[in-house]
Amino acid sequence: KGKEKVYWVCSNCGYSAGQWWGVCRSCSVSGTMKEFREAKSSDSNAKVTGFSIMEDGLGSWLPQHNADLRPLRLSEVNRGLDHLHWRIPLSGPFGNEVSRVLGGGLVPGSLTLVGGDPGVGKSTLLLQIASLIAEGHKDGEASPVVYVSGEESVEQIGNRADRLTIGSDIYLYSSNDIEDILKKVQYLSPRALVVDSVQTVYLKGIMGSPGGIIQVKECTSALLRFAKTTNIPVLLIGHVTKSGDIAGPRVLEHIVDVVLYMEGEKYTSHRMLRAVKNRFGSTDELGVFEMSHSGLEAVSNASEMFLSEQDLDSDILAGLAVAVIMDGSRTFLIEIQALCLSGSTGSRQFNGIQANRADMIISVLIKQAGLRLQEHAVFLNVVSGLTLSETAGDLAIAAAICSSCLELPIPNDIAFIGEIGLGGELRMVTRMEKRVHTVAKLGYRMCIVPKAAEKALGSEGLEKIRVVGCRNLKEVINTIF
Ligand code: TYD
Ligand code: MG
Repeated sequence: KGKEKVYWVCSNCGYSAGQWWGVCRSCSVSGTMKEFREAKSSDSNAKVTGFSIMEDGLGSWLPQHNADLRPLRLSEVNRGLDHLHWRIPLSGPFGNEVSRVLGGGLVPGSLTLVGGDPGVGKSTLLLQIASLIAEGHKDGEASPVVYVSGEESVEQIGNRADRLTIGSDIYLYSSNDIEDILKKVQYLSPRALVVDSVQTVYLKGIMGSPGGIIQVKECTSALLRFAKTTNIPVLLIGHVTKSGDIAGPRVLEHIVDVVLYMEGEKYTSHRMLRAVKNRFGSTDELGVFEMSHSGLEAVSNASEMFLSEQDLDSDILAGLAVAVIMDGSRTFLIEIQALCLSGSTGSRQFNGIQANRADMIISVLIKQAGLRLQEHAVFLNVVSGLTLSETAGDLAIAAAICSSCLELPIPNDIAFIGEIGLGGELRMVTRMEKRVHTVAKLGYRMCIVPKAAEKALGSEGLEKIRVVGCRNLKEVINTIF
């Protein structure tokens, strides 16, 4: 009998070490190092290297002709580069949204991991992507897309596909055995392969249960080899898990080419798709979807989706101001609500705004704008449950407080952009131009910005909007009230 090799793996970041550490030396999270025992038997089939599958013919996915490989001149490399830029296009509003996050389409031979909480909509998203890829290639010879699920039966997937009104060239397969999956998929030579999910598949001959760290890593490596040698793009779903014994997508981030995370607030139907890692493009991209009764739809007015739907006829309330924030490369308008109650001193409550930032802005308003807020209870709220993490929202917060305190409503076609300094001065924030142009495109009449930004902006595309530069809070108050 061979000896056992023992090692420890961090369930948070995947760092592995020959000894146990109370605090992971890579990600500094404590209590995440878990013990793994690897049987070192003389039976070569039981090796944990992932190469034992070679005997079954899967070894053909390993690069074989090493003798043909040699270092290349840069000019030789560049000549062959054109075909490398080719991507599988994803068209239509939904496809464009996915494409944007992927950096312009799906790269052949790439392995993409899609992570997210259970129930957020990963299976739905990937079934729709699968359908889109299959549809996009009706001309020419048949090349299907295969959707493999280790979680659901083909009937269950079929039901969902019906609900999504997908009727194209998709092959459904239910299996947990990676070897079996890849053999059957290779035979179909599809345009893309979806595997749902990494936690439910396993590789024979590798120890550990499905979902365990070793299986999850080995299965992902096998899928990566498959993608690279067949040039078939593989999309892999991974559940984000908090418990330590089931390995989550974080462990796999360094193995795969692209990592996307799907997020959604519990009580809204909006879903965000974010690139966390992308070997083929920027990670600054964000896709915005809405979960409807018939699947995910691209949100056409994403910039406005966090605004409450105000009736144009109804009276405008005091204490509301619109801020312009950025998430990745996208601009969102959000509404800040303030409520100032005179007479009840001291009490302050903030929802969606960092308390120390809000306290600072209130103090600046007391000192620099002469508002008697020390005699008021102040409540602040960001509409739609978002959390404001940018100083670009300072000015809107201040404006909302002024509006409530003075009981003067702000017209709802004014937006505010700017950071506030301790002297009450307005400061520039990043990507001023992009923010102002979004506001202009949405038909706002006026945008209040720091004075320094006004000059830098120019006038192209801003004919219909008044961009007003202000030096400090006093000037802002004089402009809007
Ligand atoms: P699902 O894709 O199964 O999530 P995941 O694979 O991430 O676990 O979707 C889960 C939720 O989405 C489920 O609660 C039902 C909802 N849903 C819709 O609202 N509309 C739809 O068309 C579909 C297919 C699902
Ligand atoms: Mg699912």
